[in-house]
Amino acid sequence: MTKVLPLKIYPDPVLRIKGKKLTVAEIQSDEIQQLILDMEETMITEEGIGLAAPQIGKSLRLTVIRTDDGSVVLINPRILMKSLKKEKEEEGCLSIPEVFGTVRRAIKIRVSAFDQNGKKIKFTANGLFARVILHEVDHLNGILFIDRSKEITKGQEVLAKMKKSNDKS
Ligand code: NI
Repeated sequence: MTKVLPLKIYPDPVLRIKGKKLTVAEIQSDEIQQLILDMEETMITEEGIGLAAPQIGKSLRLTVIRTDDGSVVLINPRILMKSLKKEKEEEGCLSIPEVFGTVRRAIKIRVSAFDQNGKKIKFTANGLFARVILHEVDHLNGILFIDRSKEITKGQEVLAKMKKSNDKS
Protein backbone atom coordinates (compact mmCIF):
# COMPACT_ATOMS: atom_id res chain seq x y z
CA MET A 1 0.00 0.00 0.00
CA THR A 2 1.29 3.41 -0.89
CA LYS A 3 0.30 6.59 0.82
CA VAL A 4 0.38 10.29 0.09
CA LEU A 5 2.83 11.94 2.47
CA PRO A 6 2.21 15.39 3.95
CA LEU A 7 4.33 18.08 2.30
CA LYS A 8 6.62 20.35 4.27
CA ILE A 9 5.87 23.94 3.37
CA TYR A 10 8.33 26.87 3.38
CA PRO A 11 9.64 28.17 5.79
CA ASP A 12 9.75 24.74 7.48
CA PRO A 13 13.39 24.42 8.67
CA VAL A 14 13.68 20.83 7.35
CA LEU A 15 13.80 22.34 3.84
CA ARG A 16 17.15 23.92 4.80
CA ILE A 17 18.83 20.74 6.05
CA LYS A 18 21.28 18.95 3.74
CA GLY A 19 20.21 15.42 2.89
CA LYS A 20 22.28 12.43 3.99
CA LYS A 21 23.66 9.94 1.44
CA LEU A 22 22.17 6.45 1.30
CA THR A 23 24.18 3.24 1.05
CA VAL A 24 23.16 0.54 -1.44
CA ALA A 25 21.97 -1.62 1.49
CA GLU A 26 19.83 1.26 2.75
CA ILE A 27 18.41 1.84 -0.75
CA GLN A 28 17.40 -1.82 -0.94
CA SER A 29 15.79 -1.84 2.52
CA ASP A 30 12.01 -2.22 2.82
CA GLU A 31 11.83 1.16 4.50
CA ILE A 32 13.44 3.09 1.61
CA GLN A 33 11.64 1.04 -1.06
CA GLN A 34 8.34 1.98 0.60
CA LEU A 35 9.45 5.61 0.90
CA ILE A 36 10.20 5.73 -2.86
CA LEU A 37 6.72 4.37 -3.69
CA ASP A 38 5.09 6.83 -1.30
CA MET A 39 7.09 9.75 -2.75
CA GLU A 40 6.02 8.78 -6.29
CA GLU A 41 2.39 8.59 -5.16
CA THR A 42 2.74 11.96 -3.41
CA MET A 43 4.33 13.62 -6.46
CA ILE A 44 1.56 12.38 -8.77
CA THR A 45 -1.27 13.26 -6.38
CA GLU A 46 0.13 16.74 -5.73
CA GLU A 47 0.76 17.21 -9.47
CA GLY A 48 4.45 17.93 -9.10
CA ILE A 49 7.08 17.12 -11.71
CA GLY A 50 9.62 16.38 -9.01
CA LEU A 51 9.79 15.71 -5.29
CA ALA A 52 12.82 15.61 -3.01
CA ALA A 53 12.94 13.77 0.33
CA PRO A 54 13.38 16.96 2.43
CA GLN A 55 9.96 18.07 1.10
CA ILE A 56 8.31 15.24 3.02
CA GLY A 57 10.53 15.79 6.06
CA LYS A 58 13.30 13.25 5.36
CA SER A 59 16.84 14.62 5.20
CA LEU A 60 18.04 12.11 2.62
CA ARG A 61 19.65 12.47 -0.84
CA LEU A 62 16.67 10.97 -2.64
CA THR A 63 14.44 12.49 -5.29
CA VAL A 64 11.76 11.32 -7.70
CA ILE A 65 11.11 13.06 -11.03
CA ARG A 66 8.23 12.66 -13.44
CA THR A 67 8.99 12.14 -17.11
CA ASP A 68 6.91 11.12 -20.12
CA ASP A 69 8.20 7.58 -19.63
CA GLY A 70 7.24 7.31 -15.97
CA SER A 71 9.12 8.35 -12.87
CA VAL A 72 12.88 8.46 -12.46
CA VAL A 73 14.42 7.90 -9.03
CA LEU A 74 17.76 9.57 -8.31
CA ILE A 75 19.65 8.72 -5.13
CA ASN A 76 22.89 10.49 -4.09
CA PRO A 77 22.79 12.37 -7.43
CA ARG A 78 25.88 14.25 -8.58
CA ILE A 79 26.04 16.83 -11.35
CA LEU A 80 29.19 15.89 -13.27
CA MET A 81 28.92 18.58 -15.93
CA LYS A 82 26.81 21.68 -16.57
CA SER A 83 26.62 23.42 -19.94
CA LEU A 84 27.83 27.00 -19.96
CA LYS A 85 24.72 27.86 -21.90
CA LYS A 86 21.86 28.74 -19.56
CA GLU A 87 18.21 29.51 -20.01
CA LYS A 88 15.78 31.47 -17.86
CA GLU A 89 12.42 29.75 -17.23
CA GLU A 90 9.66 30.04 -14.68
CA GLU A 91 9.71 27.58 -11.77
CA GLY A 92 7.43 26.70 -8.90
CA CYS A 93 7.72 24.27 -6.00
CA LEU A 94 5.23 22.09 -4.10
CA SER A 95 6.80 23.41 -0.87
CA ILE A 96 6.23 27.05 -1.85
CA PRO A 97 2.63 27.00 -3.13
CA GLU A 98 1.32 29.83 -5.30
CA VAL A 99 4.79 31.31 -5.82
CA PHE A 100 6.55 31.31 -9.18
CA GLY A 101 9.75 32.91 -10.36
CA THR A 102 12.28 32.73 -13.14
CA VAL A 103 15.57 30.92 -12.61
CA ARG A 104 18.58 30.73 -14.92
CA ARG A 105 19.88 27.19 -15.20
CA ALA A 106 22.17 25.17 -17.46
CA ILE A 107 20.31 23.68 -20.43
CA LYS A 108 22.35 20.47 -20.47
CA ILE A 109 23.84 18.46 -17.61
CA ARG A 110 25.59 15.15 -17.02
CA VAL A 111 24.39 13.25 -13.96
CA SER A 112 25.48 10.23 -11.96
CA ALA A 113 23.30 8.63 -9.28
CA PHE A 114 21.98 5.38 -7.92
CA ASP A 115 18.59 4.27 -9.20
CA GLN A 116 15.84 2.77 -7.02
CA ASN A 117 17.58 -0.63 -7.09
CA GLY A 118 20.92 0.77 -5.95
CA LYS A 119 22.38 0.47 -9.46
CA LYS A 120 24.85 3.16 -10.53
CA ILE A 121 23.53 5.19 -13.49
CA LYS A 122 25.01 7.98 -15.62
CA PHE A 123 23.16 10.03 -18.21
CA THR A 124 22.82 13.35 -19.98
CA ALA A 125 19.73 15.47 -19.44
CA ASN A 126 18.48 18.45 -21.45
CA GLY A 127 15.90 21.19 -21.19
CA LEU A 128 13.08 20.74 -18.69
CA PHE A 129 14.44 17.39 -17.42
CA ALA A 130 17.82 19.03 -16.68
CA ARG A 131 16.06 21.94 -14.97
CA VAL A 132 13.98 19.67 -12.74
CA ILE A 133 17.05 17.64 -11.75
CA LEU A 134 18.94 20.83 -10.82
CA HIS A 135 15.93 22.09 -8.83
CA GLU A 136 15.68 18.76 -6.96
CA VAL A 137 19.43 18.50 -6.30
CA ASP A 138 19.20 22.01 -4.83
CA HIS A 139 16.54 20.68 -2.42
CA LEU A 140 19.00 18.01 -1.26
CA ASN A 141 21.40 20.83 -0.38
CA GLY A 142 18.80 22.96 1.40
CA ILE A 143 18.53 25.41 -1.50
CA LEU A 144 15.16 26.62 -2.83
CA PHE A 145 14.34 28.19 -6.20
CA ILE A 146 13.43 31.46 -4.46
CA ASP A 147 17.09 31.71 -3.39
CA ARG A 148 18.14 31.66 -7.04
CA SER A 149 15.29 33.60 -8.62
CA LYS A 150 15.95 37.23 -9.46
CA GLU A 151 12.36 37.76 -10.52
CA ILE A 152 9.33 36.42 -8.62
CA THR A 153 6.63 36.46 -11.30
CA LYS A 154 3.63 35.32 -9.21
CA GLY A 155 2.79 35.28 -5.51
CA GLN A 156 5.09 38.05 -4.27
CA GLU A 157 2.68 38.84 -1.43
CA VAL A 158 2.31 35.20 -0.40
CA LEU A 159 6.09 34.88 -0.36
CA ALA A 160 6.52 38.07 1.68
CA LYS A 161 4.10 36.69 4.29
CA MET A 162 5.92 33.34 4.40
CA LYS A 163 9.26 35.12 4.83
CA LYS A 164 7.83 37.25 7.64
CA SER A 165 6.62 34.17 9.53
CA ASN A 166 10.15 32.80 9.11
CA ASP A 167 11.73 35.89 10.68
CA LYS A 168 9.47 35.58 13.74
CA SER A 169 10.29 31.92 14.37
NI1 NI B 1 10.81 22.18 -5.26
